[in-house]
Amino acid sequence: AQRKEIDDTLALFRLGPENLQQVRDKMRVELERGLKKESHSSASVKMLPSFVHRTPDGTERGKFLALDLGGTNFRVLVVKIRNGIRKSVRMYNKIYSIPLEIMQGTGEELFDHIVQCISDFLDYMGMKNTRLPLGFTFSFPCRQTGIDKGSLVSWTKGFKATDCEGHDVVDMLREAVKRRNEFDLDIVAVVNDTVGTMMTCAYEDPKCEIGLIAGTGSNVCYMEDMKNIEMVEGDEGRMCVNTEWGGFGENGCIEDIRTRFDREVDEGSLNSGKQRFEKMTSGMYLGEIVRQILIDLTNRGLLFCGRITEPLKTRGIFETKFLSQIESDRLALLQVRAILQQLGLESTCNDSIIVKEVCGIVARRAAQLCGAGMAAVVDKIRENRGLDHLQITVGVDGTLYKLHPHFSGILKETVKSLAPQCDVEFVLSEDGSGKGAALITAVARGQK
Ligand code: BG6
Ligand code: GLC
Repeated sequence: AQRKEIDDTLALFRLGPENLQQVRDKMRVELERGLKKESHSSASVKMLPSFVHRTPDGTERGKFLALDLGGTNFRVLVVKIRNGIRKSVRMYNKIYSIPLEIMQGTGEELFDHIVQCISDFLDYMGMKNTRLPLGFTFSFPCRQTGIDKGSLVSWTKGFKATDCEGHDVVDMLREAVKRRNEFDLDIVAVVNDTVGTMMTCAYEDPKCEIGLIAGTGSNVCYMEDMKNIEMVEGDEGRMCVNTEWGGFGENGCIEDIRTRFDREVDEGSLNSGKQRFEKMTSGMYLGEIVRQILIDLTNRGLLFCGRITEPLKTRGIFETKFLSQIESDRLALLQVRAILQQLGLESTCNDSIIVKEVCGIVARRAAQLCGAGMAAVVDKIRENRGLDHLQITVGVDGTLYKLHPHFSGILKETVKSLAPQCDVEFVLSEDGSGKGAALITAVARGQK
Protein backbone atom coordinates (compact mmCIF):
# COMPACT_ATOMS: atom_id res chain seq x y z
CA ALA A 1 0.00 0.00 0.00
CA GLN A 2 2.86 2.35 0.88
CA ARG A 3 4.56 1.52 -2.37
CA LYS A 4 1.41 2.41 -4.28
CA GLU A 5 1.21 5.82 -2.61
CA ILE A 6 4.80 6.55 -3.61
CA ASP A 7 4.23 5.36 -7.16
CA ASP A 8 1.15 7.54 -7.48
CA THR A 9 3.12 10.60 -6.43
CA LEU A 10 5.98 9.87 -8.82
CA ALA A 11 3.51 9.24 -11.64
CA LEU A 12 2.65 12.95 -11.60
CA PHE A 13 6.10 13.54 -13.13
CA ARG A 14 5.85 10.97 -15.92
CA LEU A 15 5.34 12.48 -19.34
CA GLY A 16 4.14 10.27 -22.17
CA PRO A 17 4.75 10.86 -25.87
CA GLU A 18 1.48 12.76 -26.17
CA ASN A 19 2.32 15.13 -23.33
CA LEU A 20 5.67 15.82 -24.92
CA GLN A 21 4.24 16.43 -28.37
CA GLN A 22 1.87 18.92 -26.81
CA VAL A 23 4.72 20.72 -25.07
CA ARG A 24 6.59 20.88 -28.38
CA ASP A 25 3.56 22.27 -30.21
CA LYS A 26 2.78 24.85 -27.52
CA MET A 27 6.41 25.95 -27.48
CA ARG A 28 6.22 26.41 -31.24
CA VAL A 29 3.12 28.60 -30.86
CA GLU A 30 4.88 30.76 -28.26
CA LEU A 31 8.03 31.08 -30.39
CA GLU A 32 5.89 32.41 -33.23
CA ARG A 33 3.89 34.70 -30.99
CA GLY A 34 7.06 36.20 -29.53
CA LEU A 35 8.29 37.13 -33.00
CA LYS A 36 5.12 38.90 -34.12
CA LYS A 37 4.43 42.59 -33.55
CA GLU A 38 0.83 42.17 -32.48
CA SER A 39 1.44 39.34 -30.00
CA HIS A 40 5.00 39.73 -28.75
CA SER A 41 4.14 41.82 -25.70
CA SER A 42 1.84 39.10 -24.38
CA ALA A 43 3.98 36.10 -25.38
CA SER A 44 5.48 34.03 -22.56
CA VAL A 45 8.59 33.42 -24.67
CA LYS A 46 10.10 36.87 -25.21
CA MET A 47 12.18 36.23 -28.36
CA LEU A 48 14.68 39.01 -27.75
CA PRO A 49 16.77 40.23 -30.73
CA SER A 50 20.53 40.01 -30.07
CA PHE A 51 21.83 42.17 -32.95
CA VAL A 52 24.26 39.37 -33.77
CA HIS A 53 23.82 38.72 -37.48
CA ARG A 54 26.25 35.92 -38.14
CA THR A 55 28.37 33.26 -36.53
CA PRO A 56 32.19 33.58 -36.64
CA ASP A 57 34.04 32.81 -39.87
CA GLY A 58 37.59 32.63 -38.56
CA THR A 59 38.63 36.11 -39.73
CA GLU A 60 38.05 37.63 -36.27
CA ARG A 61 41.12 38.88 -34.45
CA GLY A 62 42.31 41.10 -31.62
CA LYS A 63 42.62 41.28 -27.86
CA PHE A 64 39.51 41.74 -25.75
CA LEU A 65 38.22 41.97 -22.23
CA ALA A 66 35.15 39.90 -21.35
CA LEU A 67 32.82 39.72 -18.35
CA ASP A 68 30.63 36.72 -17.65
CA LEU A 69 27.86 37.34 -15.11
CA GLY A 70 24.82 35.28 -14.21
CA GLY A 71 25.85 31.62 -13.98
CA THR A 72 27.44 29.84 -11.03
CA ASN A 73 30.60 31.91 -11.41
CA PHE A 74 31.35 35.53 -12.17
CA ARG A 75 34.41 35.72 -14.38
CA VAL A 76 36.61 38.40 -15.83
CA LEU A 77 38.69 37.39 -18.84
CA VAL A 78 41.20 38.51 -21.41
CA VAL A 79 40.69 36.81 -24.76
CA LYS A 80 43.27 36.91 -27.56
CA ILE A 81 42.04 35.86 -30.99
CA ARG A 82 44.29 35.11 -33.95
CA ASN A 83 42.91 34.64 -37.47
CA GLY A 84 44.07 33.01 -40.68
CA ILE A 85 45.84 29.67 -40.83
CA ARG A 86 47.12 30.11 -37.30
CA LYS A 87 43.55 30.72 -36.11
CA SER A 88 43.48 30.30 -32.34
CA VAL A 89 42.06 31.69 -29.12
CA ARG A 90 43.93 32.18 -25.87
CA MET A 91 42.22 33.11 -22.63
CA TYR A 92 43.21 34.22 -19.16
CA ASN A 93 40.52 34.42 -16.55
CA LYS A 94 39.83 34.87 -12.88
CA ILE A 95 36.70 33.80 -11.01
CA TYR A 96 35.15 36.11 -8.45
CA SER A 97 32.34 35.47 -6.03
CA ILE A 98 29.20 37.55 -5.80
CA PRO A 99 27.95 37.39 -2.23
CA LEU A 100 24.22 36.90 -1.73
CA GLU A 101 23.82 40.30 -0.13
CA ILE A 102 25.22 41.87 -3.30
CA MET A 103 23.04 39.80 -5.62
CA GLN A 104 20.04 40.98 -3.68
CA GLY A 105 21.22 44.42 -2.57
CA THR A 106 21.07 47.66 -4.53
CA GLY A 107 21.93 47.93 -8.23
CA GLU A 108 24.71 50.42 -7.43
CA GLU A 109 26.32 47.99 -5.00
CA LEU A 110 26.14 45.18 -7.55
CA PHE A 111 27.76 47.19 -10.34
CA ASP A 112 30.33 48.73 -7.96
CA HIS A 113 31.27 45.19 -6.96
CA ILE A 114 31.63 44.15 -10.61
CA VAL A 115 33.89 47.14 -11.31
CA GLN A 116 35.90 46.35 -8.20
CA CYS A 117 36.51 42.84 -9.57
CA ILE A 118 37.52 44.23 -12.99
CA SER A 119 39.94 46.57 -11.23
CA ASP A 120 41.50 43.67 -9.35
CA PHE A 121 41.78 41.67 -12.57
CA LEU A 122 43.41 44.50 -14.51
CA ASP A 123 45.95 44.94 -11.71
CA TYR A 124 46.60 41.20 -11.68
CA MET A 125 47.18 41.20 -15.45
CA GLY A 126 49.14 44.49 -15.37
CA MET A 127 46.69 46.01 -17.81
CA LYS A 128 45.21 49.02 -16.05
CA ASN A 129 46.02 51.41 -18.88
CA THR A 130 45.18 49.36 -21.94
CA ARG A 131 41.45 50.12 -22.50
CA LEU A 132 40.63 46.98 -24.46
CA PRO A 133 37.24 46.59 -26.15
CA LEU A 134 34.93 44.73 -23.81
CA GLY A 135 32.17 42.14 -24.36
CA PHE A 136 29.75 41.73 -21.48
CA THR A 137 28.00 38.36 -21.11
CA PHE A 138 24.98 39.21 -19.01
CA SER A 139 22.83 36.10 -18.55
CA PHE A 140 19.45 37.71 -18.01
CA PRO A 141 16.68 38.89 -20.34
CA CYS A 142 17.65 42.18 -22.00
CA ARG A 143 15.60 44.13 -24.49
CA GLN A 144 18.34 45.22 -26.90
CA THR A 145 18.14 48.04 -29.41
CA GLY A 146 21.71 47.59 -30.58
CA ILE A 147 24.74 45.42 -29.89
CA ASP A 148 25.79 47.69 -27.00
CA LYS A 149 22.37 48.68 -25.70
CA GLY A 150 20.02 46.55 -23.66
CA SER A 151 17.71 47.18 -20.77
CA LEU A 152 17.13 44.48 -18.20
CA VAL A 153 13.56 43.18 -18.53
CA SER A 154 13.54 41.39 -15.18
CA TRP A 155 15.99 39.58 -12.97
CA THR A 156 15.81 35.77 -13.01
CA LYS A 157 17.54 32.97 -11.04
CA GLY A 158 19.01 34.18 -7.74
CA PHE A 159 19.44 37.88 -8.57
CA LYS A 160 17.21 40.64 -7.29
CA ALA A 161 19.27 43.86 -7.04
CA THR A 162 17.09 46.96 -6.81
CA ASP A 163 16.78 49.74 -9.43
CA CYS A 164 18.06 47.68 -12.35
CA GLU A 165 14.96 46.41 -14.10
CA GLY A 166 14.07 48.69 -16.99
CA HIS A 167 17.57 50.25 -16.95
CA ASP A 168 20.28 49.89 -19.58
CA VAL A 169 22.89 47.39 -18.45
CA VAL A 170 25.75 49.03 -20.33
CA ASP A 171 24.86 52.44 -18.85
CA MET A 172 24.83 50.97 -15.35
CA LEU A 173 28.29 49.49 -15.90
CA ARG A 174 29.62 52.76 -17.38
CA GLU A 175 28.25 54.75 -14.44
CA ALA A 176 29.90 52.40 -11.95
CA VAL A 177 33.22 52.83 -13.79
CA LYS A 178 32.76 56.59 -13.57
CA ARG A 179 31.97 56.43 -9.85
CA ARG A 180 35.19 54.57 -9.23
CA ASN A 181 37.13 57.06 -11.35
CA GLU A 182 40.21 54.88 -11.60
CA PHE A 183 40.25 53.41 -15.11
CA ASP A 184 38.27 53.50 -18.31
CA LEU A 185 36.37 50.78 -20.17
CA ASP A 186 35.38 50.55 -23.81
CA ILE A 187 32.12 48.54 -23.68
CA VAL A 188 31.26 47.26 -27.15
CA ALA A 189 28.73 44.45 -26.76
CA VAL A 190 26.22 43.02 -24.32
CA VAL A 191 25.56 39.33 -24.89
CA ASN A 192 23.27 36.67 -23.45
CA ASP A 193 25.09 33.49 -22.32
CA THR A 194 23.17 31.38 -24.85
CA VAL A 195 24.42 33.64 -27.65
CA GLY A 196 27.99 33.59 -26.30
CA THR A 197 27.85 29.79 -26.10
CA MET A 198 26.53 29.47 -29.67
CA MET A 199 29.36 31.74 -30.91
CA THR A 200 32.00 29.82 -28.94
CA CYS A 201 30.93 26.54 -30.53
CA ALA A 202 30.32 28.04 -33.99
CA TYR A 203 33.96 29.16 -34.07
CA GLU A 204 34.86 25.46 -34.40
CA ASP A 205 31.73 24.19 -36.17
CA PRO A 206 29.92 26.34 -38.79
CA LYS A 207 26.81 24.16 -38.45
CA CYS A 208 26.32 25.47 -34.91
CA GLU A 209 23.39 27.88 -35.10
CA ILE A 210 21.73 27.18 -31.74
CA GLY A 211 22.95 27.86 -28.18
CA LEU A 212 21.54 25.99 -25.17
CA ILE A 213 22.14 26.57 -21.48
CA ALA A 214 21.06 23.86 -19.04
CA GLY A 215 22.59 25.21 -15.85
CA THR A 216 21.43 27.40 -13.01
CA GLY A 217 18.85 28.63 -15.52
CA SER A 218 17.50 27.22 -18.78
CA ASN A 219 17.47 29.05 -22.12
CA VAL A 220 18.01 28.77 -25.88
CA CYS A 221 18.99 31.08 -28.75
CA TYR A 222 19.08 30.35 -32.48
CA MET A 223 19.62 32.01 -35.86
CA GLU A 224 16.27 33.30 -37.12
CA ASP A 225 15.46 34.84 -40.51
CA MET A 226 15.29 38.65 -40.28
CA LYS A 227 12.03 38.67 -42.19
CA ASN A 228 10.39 36.75 -39.33
CA ILE A 229 11.61 39.12 -36.59
CA GLU A 230 8.95 41.79 -36.80
CA MET A 231 10.39 43.84 -33.96
CA VAL A 232 13.53 44.68 -35.95
CA GLU A 233 13.70 46.67 -39.21
CA GLY A 234 14.97 44.89 -42.29
CA ASP A 235 14.22 41.60 -44.03
CA GLU A 236 17.62 40.50 -45.27
CA GLY A 237 19.76 37.82 -43.71
CA ARG A 238 19.50 36.44 -40.19
CA MET A 239 19.78 37.47 -36.58
CA CYS A 240 20.31 35.43 -33.44
CA VAL A 241 17.22 35.52 -31.20
CA ASN A 242 17.45 34.91 -27.45
CA THR A 243 14.20 33.03 -26.85
CA GLU A 244 14.14 33.31 -23.02
CA TRP A 245 12.19 30.06 -23.11
CA GLY A 246 12.45 29.84 -19.32
CA GLY A 247 9.36 32.07 -19.27
CA PHE A 248 7.34 29.52 -21.25
CA GLY A 249 4.08 28.78 -19.44
CA GLU A 250 3.75 32.16 -17.70
CA ASN A 251 0.43 32.50 -19.55
CA GLY A 252 -0.85 29.26 -18.05
CA CYS A 253 -0.35 27.10 -21.15
CA ILE A 254 1.43 24.23 -19.34
CA GLU A 255 -0.64 24.11 -16.17
CA ASP A 256 -1.82 20.63 -17.15
CA ILE A 257 1.64 19.19 -16.54
CA ARG A 258 2.67 21.33 -13.56
CA THR A 259 2.31 19.52 -10.25
CA ARG A 260 1.56 20.80 -6.78
CA PHE A 261 5.29 20.48 -6.09
CA ASP A 262 6.13 22.83 -8.98
CA ARG A 263 3.67 25.35 -7.56
CA GLU A 264 5.25 25.04 -4.13
CA VAL A 265 8.72 25.71 -5.59
CA ASP A 266 7.39 28.66 -7.54
CA GLU A 267 5.77 30.20 -4.49
CA GLY A 268 9.00 29.91 -2.50
CA SER A 269 11.06 31.58 -5.25
CA LEU A 270 12.19 35.20 -5.71
CA ASN A 271 9.99 35.61 -8.82
CA SER A 272 6.77 33.77 -8.15
CA GLY A 273 4.60 33.20 -11.24
CA LYS A 274 7.58 33.85 -13.56
CA GLN A 275 9.96 31.51 -15.38
CA ARG A 276 7.66 28.50 -15.01
CA PHE A 277 9.44 26.35 -17.59
CA GLU A 278 12.83 27.26 -16.10
CA LYS A 279 11.58 26.12 -12.70
CA MET A 280 10.84 22.66 -14.12
CA THR A 281 14.07 22.32 -16.08
CA SER A 282 17.07 24.02 -14.51
CA GLY A 283 19.64 23.31 -11.83
CA MET A 284 18.58 26.06 -9.49
CA TYR A 285 15.14 24.48 -9.04
CA LEU A 286 15.35 20.71 -9.59
CA GLY A 287 16.71 20.10 -6.12
CA GLU A 288 13.90 22.20 -4.69
CA ILE A 289 11.31 20.05 -6.47
CA VAL A 290 13.00 16.97 -5.04
CA ARG A 291 12.94 18.51 -1.57
CA GLN A 292 9.22 19.31 -1.83
CA ILE A 293 8.45 15.72 -2.81
CA LEU A 294 10.57 14.34 0.03
CA ILE A 295 8.79 16.61 2.53
CA ASP A 296 5.43 15.43 1.24
CA LEU A 297 6.37 11.75 1.44
CA THR A 298 7.77 12.27 4.92
CA ASN A 299 4.62 14.05 6.08
CA ARG A 300 2.64 11.08 4.88
CA GLY A 301 4.87 8.74 6.86
CA LEU A 302 6.33 7.12 3.75
CA LEU A 303 9.92 8.28 4.24
CA PHE A 304 12.50 9.10 6.96
CA CYS A 305 10.24 7.51 9.62
CA GLY A 306 7.87 10.43 9.15
CA ARG A 307 10.32 12.88 10.75
CA ILE A 308 10.83 16.29 9.10
CA THR A 309 14.33 17.34 10.12
CA GLU A 310 16.10 20.72 9.76
CA PRO A 311 18.04 19.81 6.59
CA LEU A 312 14.79 18.85 4.86
CA LYS A 313 13.44 22.26 5.70
CA THR A 314 16.49 24.03 4.30
CA ARG A 315 15.94 25.74 0.95
CA GLY A 316 18.56 25.02 -1.72
CA ILE A 317 20.12 22.07 0.13
CA PHE A 318 20.00 19.73 -2.89
CA GLU A 319 22.33 21.33 -5.42
CA THR A 320 22.77 20.07 -9.01
CA LYS A 321 26.00 18.45 -7.84
CA PHE A 322 24.01 16.35 -5.39
CA LEU A 323 21.37 15.23 -7.89
CA SER A 324 24.15 14.23 -10.24
CA GLN A 325 26.03 12.23 -7.60
CA ILE A 326 22.92 10.41 -6.39
CA GLU A 327 22.09 9.29 -9.89
CA SER A 328 25.52 8.12 -10.82
CA ASP A 329 25.11 4.51 -11.94
CA ARG A 330 28.30 3.39 -10.28
CA LEU A 331 27.02 4.40 -6.90
CA ALA A 332 26.01 1.67 -4.47
CA LEU A 333 23.07 2.37 -2.21
CA LEU A 334 25.38 2.57 0.75
CA GLN A 335 27.08 5.52 -0.94
CA VAL A 336 23.73 7.18 -1.55
CA ARG A 337 23.12 6.91 2.15
CA ALA A 338 26.53 8.40 2.85
CA ILE A 339 25.71 11.39 0.64
CA LEU A 340 22.39 11.89 2.40
CA GLN A 341 24.21 11.68 5.69
CA GLN A 342 26.60 14.45 4.62
CA LEU A 343 23.53 16.61 4.21
CA GLY A 344 22.40 15.62 7.69
CA LEU A 345 19.70 13.21 6.54
CA GLU A 346 19.66 9.85 8.33
CA SER A 347 18.21 7.25 6.01
CA THR A 348 17.38 3.58 5.95
CA CYS A 349 18.27 1.50 2.93
CA ASN A 350 14.69 1.77 1.75
CA ASP A 351 14.72 5.57 2.17
CA SER A 352 17.78 5.85 -0.02
CA ILE A 353 16.08 3.85 -2.78
CA ILE A 354 13.12 6.22 -2.70
CA VAL A 355 15.31 9.35 -2.72
CA LYS A 356 17.19 8.06 -5.74
CA GLU A 357 13.92 7.37 -7.55
CA VAL A 358 12.64 10.85 -6.79
CA CYS A 359 15.84 12.46 -8.11
CA GLY A 360 15.64 10.30 -11.22
CA ILE A 361 12.09 11.16 -12.12
CA VAL A 362 12.55 14.91 -11.59
CA ALA A 363 15.71 15.06 -13.72
CA ARG A 364 14.14 12.88 -16.41
CA ARG A 365 11.15 15.17 -16.75
CA ALA A 366 13.49 18.19 -16.97
CA ALA A 367 15.50 16.62 -19.79
CA GLN A 368 12.37 15.57 -21.65
CA LEU A 369 10.89 19.07 -21.39
CA CYS A 370 14.10 20.63 -22.72
CA GLY A 371 14.05 18.07 -25.51
CA ALA A 372 10.46 18.92 -26.42
CA GLY A 373 11.33 22.63 -26.49
CA MET A 374 14.41 21.96 -28.60
CA ALA A 375 12.33 19.89 -31.04
CA ALA A 376 10.12 22.95 -31.60
CA VAL A 377 13.17 25.14 -32.28
CA VAL A 378 14.91 22.84 -34.76
CA ASP A 379 11.71 22.13 -36.63
CA LYS A 380 11.04 25.84 -36.95
CA ILE A 381 14.51 26.39 -38.41
CA ARG A 382 13.95 23.48 -40.81
CA GLU A 383 10.67 24.97 -42.01
CA ASN A 384 12.20 28.48 -42.29
CA ARG A 385 14.68 27.05 -44.74
CA GLY A 386 12.15 24.98 -46.66
CA LEU A 387 14.06 21.75 -46.01
CA ASP A 388 12.82 18.18 -45.73
CA HIS A 389 15.78 17.42 -43.61
CA LEU A 390 17.91 19.71 -41.44
CA GLN A 391 21.38 19.03 -40.11
CA ILE A 392 22.30 21.35 -37.29
CA THR A 393 24.56 21.64 -34.25
CA VAL A 394 23.61 22.92 -30.81
CA GLY A 395 26.35 24.46 -28.66
CA VAL A 396 25.64 23.65 -25.00
CA ASP A 397 26.86 24.80 -21.62
CA GLY A 398 25.71 24.61 -18.01
CA THR A 399 26.33 22.56 -14.88
CA LEU A 400 23.18 20.44 -15.24
CA TYR A 401 24.14 19.31 -18.73
CA LYS A 402 27.77 18.82 -17.78
CA LEU A 403 27.44 17.07 -14.43
CA HIS A 404 24.26 15.03 -14.61
CA PRO A 405 24.83 11.45 -15.75
CA HIS A 406 21.53 11.04 -17.67
CA PHE A 407 20.28 14.52 -18.56
CA SER A 408 22.05 14.86 -21.92
CA GLY A 409 21.13 11.35 -23.07
CA ILE A 410 17.42 11.80 -22.36
CA LEU A 411 17.49 15.25 -23.96
CA LYS A 412 18.96 13.88 -27.19
CA GLU A 413 16.62 10.91 -27.29
CA THR A 414 13.60 13.20 -26.88
CA VAL A 415 14.69 15.59 -29.64
CA LYS A 416 15.24 12.65 -31.95
CA SER A 417 11.77 11.25 -31.44
CA LEU A 418 9.95 14.61 -31.51
CA ALA A 419 11.79 16.12 -34.49
CA PRO A 420 12.45 13.13 -36.74
CA GLN A 421 13.26 15.30 -39.77
CA CYS A 422 16.17 16.94 -37.99
CA ASP A 423 19.59 15.55 -37.36
CA VAL A 424 20.74 17.40 -34.25
CA GLU A 425 24.23 17.22 -32.85
CA PHE A 426 25.04 18.56 -29.39
CA VAL A 427 28.51 19.98 -28.77
CA LEU A 428 29.70 20.93 -25.32
CA SER A 429 31.21 24.38 -25.00
CA GLU A 430 34.58 23.92 -23.35
CA ASP A 431 35.44 27.56 -22.89
CA GLY A 432 32.30 29.22 -21.57
CA SER A 433 30.50 32.08 -23.20
CA GLY A 434 33.23 34.69 -22.60
CA LYS A 435 35.05 33.51 -25.72
CA GLY A 436 31.85 33.99 -27.74
CA ALA A 437 31.38 37.46 -26.26
CA ALA A 438 34.91 38.35 -27.43
CA LEU A 439 34.17 37.05 -30.94
CA ILE A 440 31.03 39.18 -31.06
CA THR A 441 33.05 42.17 -29.87
CA ALA A 442 35.57 41.55 -32.65
CA VAL A 443 32.85 41.55 -35.28
CA ALA A 444 31.17 44.64 -33.82
CA ARG A 445 34.52 46.48 -33.91
CA GLY A 446 35.13 45.31 -37.46
CA GLN A 447 38.43 43.85 -36.28
CA LYS A 448 39.38 41.46 -39.02
C1 BG6 B 1 29.26 29.10 -18.41
C2 BG6 B 1 29.07 30.33 -19.22
O1 BG6 B 1 30.24 28.29 -18.91
O2 BG6 B 1 28.00 28.44 -18.31
C3 BG6 B 1 28.11 31.24 -18.47
O3 BG6 B 1 30.27 31.00 -19.48
C4 BG6 B 1 26.82 30.53 -18.26
O4 BG6 B 1 27.91 32.43 -19.14
C5 BG6 B 1 27.06 29.21 -17.60
O5 BG6 B 1 25.90 31.33 -17.54
C6 BG6 B 1 25.81 28.43 -17.36
O6 BG6 B 1 26.07 27.45 -16.43
P1 BG6 B 1 25.75 27.51 -14.88
O7 BG6 B 1 25.45 26.09 -14.61
O8 BG6 B 1 26.95 28.04 -14.20
O9 BG6 B 1 24.54 28.39 -14.71
C1 GLC C 1 17.84 32.59 -17.20
C2 GLC C 1 18.04 33.94 -17.86
C3 GLC C 1 18.55 33.77 -19.29
C4 GLC C 1 19.78 32.88 -19.28
C5 GLC C 1 19.49 31.56 -18.58
C6 GLC C 1 20.69 30.64 -18.52
O1 GLC C 1 16.81 31.92 -17.86
O2 GLC C 1 16.83 34.66 -17.87
O3 GLC C 1 18.85 35.02 -19.86
O4 GLC C 1 20.21 32.66 -20.59
O5 GLC C 1 19.02 31.81 -17.28
O6 GLC C 1 21.74 31.20 -17.79
